[in-house]
Parts: sequence; structure tokens; C-alpha cells
Amino acid sequence: MNEAASPLLIDRFNRQVEYVRLSVTDRCDFRCVYCMAEEMTFAPRADILTLEELELIARAFVELGAKKIRLTGGEPLVRQNIMALVENIGQLDGLHELTLTTNGSQLTKQASALHQAGIKRINISIDSLKPARFKKITRTGDLQKVLNGIDAAIATGFKRIKLNTVILKGRNEDEIIDLVNFARDKKVDISFIEEMPLGLIDEHNRALSFCSSDEIRDIVSAQYPLTSTDETTSGPSHYYSMNDSESRIGFISPHSHNFCHLCNRVRVTVEGRLLLCLGNEHSADLKTVLRANPGEIDPLKDAIIAAMDLKPEKHHFNLEEEPQIVRFMNMTGG
Ligand code: 5AD
Ligand code: SF4
Repeated sequence: MNEAASPLLIDRFNRQVEYVRLSVTDRCDFRCVYCMAEEMTFAPRADILTLEELELIARAFVELGAKKIRLTGGEPLVRQNIMALVENIGQLDGLHELTLTTNGSQLTKQASALHQAGIKRINISIDSLKPARFKKITRTGDLQKVLNGIDAAIATGFKRIKLNTVILKGRNEDEIIDLVNFARDKKVDISFIEEMPLGLIDEHNRALSFCSSDEIRDIVSAQYPLTSTDETTSGPSHYYSMNDSESRIGFISPHSHNFCHLCNRVRVTVEGRLLLCLGNEHSADLKTVLRANPGEIDPLKDAIIAAMDLKPEKHHFNLEEEPQIVRFMNMTGG
């Protein structure tokens, strides 16, 4: 039987898992207000998967039919020797696409090596083009470094660079058009992501600052008429095009438009927890399997196949309640 006729990673709702988001570190040089608390406790070193363990997980998924891997964090580029992992995963037979989500702070140094190592597309987070505000949102970030990083990535020749932006009311909603113009100038795509209630934060009230994709789309389309496209990157983003620009505008709307029925993805935290859904706690502990059987791929594959039955049908986010998901986004891998 060929691979297409017998996919191995099918869940109870007949969704085929083809996409793995692998968090390679929970550390980050930024402390974005919606992602982290100001004082974060990171996972103890002993609990963090080694580069060899991360690679084995990637290999197991690809052998089970996963086509796409995205490396996330925290900030993946602050992990030591990350390039070796990128190179090894980039060479896996059967993997169609290796991508990366980054905050851009290290890209001037690393863009070209990443591209050579096999990263085809990258997403770069940017929420403001005003230096002081950028610093406030990221708590530690330097806008100029990120802008230079974006330019370095463009110069390197990545396909379809995408900016990721979280708009919060009273914070950066007045920059929606500026950010769209920036994407148009740079000929890159931009996606607006609705803030998700992951982790307990006290910096702002998520219900009050929430800005829906529909509100943002209304603001953008008042300036630039938007045409809905059917393009997807096998993800929850819904893309629109403008008639006078190559840039596409995406909206990721976990609150306002439920996309769970199309979900083809799972996440692995850097502590080796296989998360079956961003908005639920259902998970399988791959680290224990890895450490009980060092270097062995078969027990790992068995654990991954068994975990498919745990994938829940959908997520429920409710901004008015205390978050039910206490893990922060940096644990979860964007
Ligand atoms: N809700 C929505 N997006 C978030 N990100 C981090 N935390 C959250 C959250 N709670 C975004 C970052 C980055 C992407 C990987 O996830 O801004 O762009
Ligand atoms: Fe770091 Fe990204 Fe979280 Fe910001 S959103 S703190 S850049 S991991």
C-alpha cells in the first residue's frame, strides 16, 4: 500500500496530521506582554529536550507521514547550536517544508545560514513600528534590530516572508494601516492574530484589549479593498489580496471563526509534551518514552500514533473567564 492510502496519523475525527510545530526552547530574549509574564520561570535544564531528542522526534513524525515542520519557541534562534538541528531536520527524506517562527532579533546574523540549512519560509513577529511602543510591548525588544533582521531575511531570498502581528486595543490598533503599508513596501505578507488566552498575565485585561479579525479587516478594507483568496498554508489563516500589491493579508481568528474542523497540526513542547490542540490540555508525554528508550525511534512512533486518539474535536476560548490553559505561549510554540 502506498503512503497516501494508509496515512498513519489520523485522529478520531478523520483529520490527518501532517504538520508539526516543534518548540526548540521556551527561552526568549523578549517578554511580549500577551505571551509572557514579566518574571518568567523557565523549564529546568534537565527537562528540556536535547537537540538529539528533538531531531528524533522530527524524524519520527516525518516517517509517520508529516510533511511540514515549523520550528518555534520561545525564540528558536536563542537556542545554542540550533543551526545543527535545522540542518539535520532539513535533510529528512519526505519532509516537504521546514519553516521557522522568530521574533527577528537574531536574523541579521542568522538569516543566511538558516536559508542554506533548508528553512524555506519564515514568520517574523512585529507589533509596532514605533521604537518606544515596540519596547513596551516586548518589554525588552529593540525595534531597529528587528527591522534590520527583516531586511536581512528579505535580502537572503526566503519565499513569502510573513509578518505576524497581534493587535491589542488601546495599544497598537492605530498602527494597523501603518503595518499593512510596511508589509506592502517590503513586499511581504502580514497576518493579524487574535490574542489567545494562554497563560495567566496581569499586564492587561484580555477581554478589554481584544481586537477581532473582523474589526481589523474593516479598517484595512476601508483603505485597501480586499479580495478573499482560497489560498492557505495548510493553516488557520484566511488570506486576502489587494489589487495593487503582491502582499497578502491573513487573519488568524481562533475566537471569531472556528477552524478546528480543518486542523491538521500538533505541537511538541520543548519538554517533550505532544499537545494535540492549542486550546486544550490533551497531551502525551514523549520525553518519558524518549528517555526510557534512548535513541530508539520505534517506541516514539508508537507513542505518537497512540496519541492521535487524544486529539480533541475543537477548542473553546473564553476571554471573560480565567484562562483554562495555564501554559504560556512560549511553552506551546506559537
Ligand atoms: N495570543 C496570540 N498570539 C500570541 N503570540 C504569542 N502569544 C500569543 C497569544 N497569547 C504570537 C506572537 C508570535 C506568534 C508566534 O504567536 O506574537 O507572532
Ligand atoms: Fe518571545 Fe515570541 Fe513570546 Fe514575544 S511572543 S515573548 S518574541 S516567544
